[in-house]
Amino acid sequence: MEIKKYTFQRHGDDRGMLVALEEMKDIPFDIKRVYYMYDTIEGVRRGFHAHKCLEQILIPIHGTCKIHLDDGFTTEEVVLDKPYEGLYISNNMWREMYDFSPDAVLMVLASEFYDEKDYIRDYDEFLKFVGAKV
Ligand code: TYD
Repeated sequence: MEIKKYTFQRHGDDRGMLVALEEMKDIPFDIKRVYYMYDTIEGVRRGFHAHKCLEQILIPIHGTCKIHLDDGFTTEEVVLDKPYEGLYISNNMWREMYDFSPDAVLMVLASEFYDEKDYIRDYDEFLKFVGAKV
């Protein structure tokens, strides 16, 4: 599985840092939705789903967390610990988020509006959907 991490341009000076993200330039899709997770309870694992069409970029704008990715055939664990790096997650990818530091704020840029019909929340159904299981 190819891990696609984006390193964003940092505008730093003696006042501090700034990162600007524009759709179809820094982000490879039109951004229809932004959401973020914070105050995730220690030890909690989130996600446990895939999307049929949605593309996303996950950016740990504060703190750290880990992402478990599964395309139905192989898995990867990715550490997110830089506020200027984003992890691209394509459609048809099972994801779980874990090991959130207490100060973690995980921001997600998404290519579509929220649509519960786009979710696959059952792992067996996911494996069938991607052709990893008959
Ligand atoms: P959920 O999908 O359970 O989060 P996670 O991926 O961390 O497991 O979403 C939590 C709640 O937030 C659920 O009630 C749906 C709602 N929600 C929205 O209303 N809009 C959104 O864009 C997202 C991602 C979730």
